[in-house]
Amino acid sequence: MNKSFFKYEPDEKMYVTDDYISYSDGSEKYFIDLFNSVDVEDDSALLTHIEDWAIKYHLSQERINVISPFLDLFNVNGNVLEIGAGMGAISRWLGKNFRHVDCIEGNINRARALRARTRNMENVDIYAGNALKTNLNACEYDLATLIGVLEYIPFYSDESPEESVVVFLRNIHNTLNDNGILIISIENKFGLKYFSGCAEDHNGDMYSGLMDYPFKSAITFGRNELESLIRQAGFSGVQFYHAYPDYKMPVSVFRECSEIYELNPDVFWPKQILDNIPRKHLFFEPLVIKSLFKEKMVHYFSNSFVILCSKSADTNLKTEWVFVKCTDPLINADYRHWIKIAPDKNRGGFLVEKKALNHNEDIKENNVFSVKLTNQEYVHGSALIMEAFKAFLAKDNYMSFLNLLSEIRGELLKNSAGEDEEGYPLVSGCFFDFCFWNLIRRDGKLIYFDNKWNGKEDMPVDYIIFRNIHNLRHYFIGYVAFNNFEGFCAHLMSILFPAHNAKRLGYLVNLETRLITELLAQNAGMASPGREARKPA
Ligand SMILES: C[S@@+](CC[C@H](N)C(=O)[O-])C[C@H]1O[C@@H](n2cnc3c(N)ncnc32)[C@H](O)[C@@H]1O
Repeated sequence: MNKSFFKYEPDEKMYVTDDYISYSDGSEKYFIDLFNSVDVEDDSALLTHIEDWAIKYHLSQERINVISPFLDLFNVNGNVLEIGAGMGAISRWLGKNFRHVDCIEGNINRARALRARTRNMENVDIYAGNALKTNLNACEYDLATLIGVLEYIPFYSDESPEESVVVFLRNIHNTLNDNGILIISIENKFGLKYFSGCAEDHNGDMYSGLMDYPFKSAITFGRNELESLIRQAGFSGVQFYHAYPDYKMPVSVFRECSEIYELNPDVFWPKQILDNIPRKHLFFEPLVIKSLFKEKMVHYFSNSFVILCSKSADTNLKTEWVFVKCTDPLINADYRHWIKIAPDKNRGGFLVEKKALNHNEDIKENNVFSVKLTNQEYVHGSALIMEAFKAFLAKDNYMSFLNLLSEIRGELLKNSAGEDEEGYPLVSGCFFDFCFWNLIRRDGKLIYFDNKWNGKEDMPVDYIIFRNIHNLRHYFIGYVAFNNFEGFCAHLMSILFPAHNAKRLGYLVNLETRLITELLAQNAGMASPGREARKPA
């Protein structure tokens, strides 16, 4: 960092200037106080402060999913420049994994919060000031990050949006070593969510990005437009990755490559984005994503890009994996894991590797489950969840949906042994997730994949069918208005199990609550991914 622009302020323990930007989401003072009053090393203690999406955005461990899957490509012995570091959602992770980190943050109070959050990290220096005015030394850094920042560069510049971005990226290009990498994460202005009814993340207006931003705002770009700007800035290597629901708290990331279109996309996509602002649901996104996959076009419509850029065309920007998914953030940290899908170099096809997030063992036990993570061959075929979506939306009085449920019931009955005290057939607890989302149809057969939750007790067949119906609802939230879902569920159950009644349904609801509680994180009631919580002031 060229320090001539800054002055070291010993009381603040950071470098400061007089030149700040107006960016704020109004929460800066809250986070300064919070980080000064808690043990910032204790991630789980921080999580207890999450009350709404705006706070979650700064505290959630999901934030690092945007960069952690790429660690193998980076030089961890090198120097990092984090531009627009905000209030340190990523900075601590950088400090833990790299030799040295320089953070620049344009809002002085954000920089203070960031300093408080990283106060015990001697390898992290904080520079408070406008990155657009900062001179960067040539060839100083091995990694530079622009996580949620590039979109604001045109807003704080007087040049044309394209020109400001190219000039800014050129400066970053200049400050990287010959093998250096820049990671950019940014929303896609053609993200599917903007077509389906989400307001633009940065200015809150519907369709603003699709209309090429008719008024001054932070702005994002389309895939080709962005690649062109990056190349104009001098980067020779450019590799796009795509994040879902978006880069802010990604659950899934895929590498843009031809192989991704050999895989079955259906099993990848988590539930609908449950936004934290009013939004429309003009269509049912998972089925549109499937259509785009069939057309090999999904990479133009992903909600966010993560882009690796290198000075040298020889720098490897390709991960071994083509797809990664982190288990649902609502799951207890003890059972959370990464799923990585990578080409199987020895045998062809793809391998699915599962790795626990917070521990080394591949098996974890609780009162009712043993959770075993095993690597598997990738199962090709069509995901039953997509059939279920279509069947649910078919205009045939749920006949197609009932047929699918009967098929699952038939498979479960083939595997049943014994009955419970009410005479309902029982299956082993390993069938707990014998549900749409874990079944693939291949050659006319149903294949049960990724069955990692092994229930220690036998489970009634009607319970597994109930789980299929009950949990499907979450995918449709916003798109389908459920006025009396319990009644609907009871009706279907009484067709599939003629002796079924309200008392039995109540028993199944309690059973589901008891078992799921064992798997959920303590703050699982929290909101879901959504838009950024601020606009530039
Ligand atoms: C969306 S936030 C992202 C913060 C952080 N990277 C994260 O992921 O949590 C954008 C950040 O970039 C900072 N920023 C935007 N333009 C900047 C500039 N020209 N110089 C320094 N910081 C800037 C803002 O102050 C804000 O903290």
